[in-house]
Amino acid sequence: MPGKILVTGGTGFIGSHTCVVLLENDYDVLIVDNLSNSNVEVVDKIAQITGKTPHFTKLDLCDEKSLTDFFTDNPGIDGVIHFAAYKAVGESSEFPLKYYHNNLLGMINLLKTMDQAGCDKMVFSSSCTVYGQPDVLPVTEDAPLKKAFSPYGNTKKICEDILQDQVGSTALKGIALRYFNPIGAHESALIGELPLGIPNNLVPYLTQTAIGKRESLKVFGNDYNTHDGTGIRDYIHVMDLARAHLDAINRLISKKYKEEYEIFNLGTGTGYSVLDIILTFEKVNGVKVNYEFVDRRPGDIEKVWADPSKANSELGWKAESGLEDMLRSAWKWEKSLLK
Ligand code: WQD
Repeated sequence: MPGKILVTGGTGFIGSHTCVVLLENDYDVLIVDNLSNSNVEVVDKIAQITGKTPHFTKLDLCDEKSLTDFFTDNPGIDGVIHFAAYKAVGESSEFPLKYYHNNLLGMINLLKTMDQAGCDKMVFSSSCTVYGQPDVLPVTEDAPLKKAFSPYGNTKKICEDILQDQVGSTALKGIALRYFNPIGAHESALIGELPLGIPNNLVPYLTQTAIGKRESLKVFGNDYNTHDGTGIRDYIHVMDLARAHLDAINRLISKKYKEEYEIFNLGTGTGYSVLDIILTFEKVNGVKVNYEFVDRRPGDIEKVWADPSKANSELGWKAESGLEDMLRSAWKWEKSLLK
């Protein structure tokens, strides 16, 4: 069945891991990326891991002409996995128009040029952030969506709506994957999370603190209504997440979908607190992490974890890695950056 898959944002954290899994499953992979938050060396790393080199084009999805030319120059694309977007929650509140312009126009141009090229399958990278603070946990796909806590989260919600409406009015079939918190790295430590500047997310900040790049990890709030007062999230290994994208694109290509537009939560179903993460990290890696409790971060929710049963049963997908493996791989990746 394999075919030709376009991966937008394919040199990014989740995109690069997904390219590895696609190539290992005999898909041809074409990457487009504007390299605004990743570097082109990732293409060679993907080739080193898989023994196959993805086709790479530096391209900005906001440039409709170059996107149209891309589809003309690369006919026969069977499906698209769309990652390319800005994703820093805090930055999105500082520069909302930058996020709305990039994330929404990129999606619109991509869907438009796909339609013109007769490419009718998209897997979309969405996020649990669309749920806000759920009233009921674990959270299922039919939970009511709340006003997004950030422009970033709002662009994910709006892009889901754009995808659903385009499915409703064309031959397009779409799957939205709502990620929980992706962490860790490929076992080779050749690819991983490479935040430019000061990491927004917990685990890269934690590993940079452990290796000495950062003074101390600030724990944003220890007065939440949780077992130890710190925020709870559903952390998932990035390789488990990557495998879900293979299952989703296979579902579309083999026409196994039940609806033309489907949504799946991608989480483990288990929540861990910030302190759980820190203490587990120290235990499995035998390193000390300096940390201090500070005020809550504006916009943070208190606790969220997934009910992944729909993805388990419909996609035949289940997260396999436990927290210790995730944190071991994150540390191995951080240490590889020293070389
Ligand atoms: C996790 C926990 C923080 C940093 C966001 C987006 C989501 C996805 C992942 C993009 C929280 C605490 C964090 C730190 C801390 N998007 N924390 N000190 O906010 O759950 O999710 O990033 O990839 O769509 O919403 O992830 O890693 O920032 O925070 O205490 O320095 O760690 O308060 O409880 P978040 P996160």
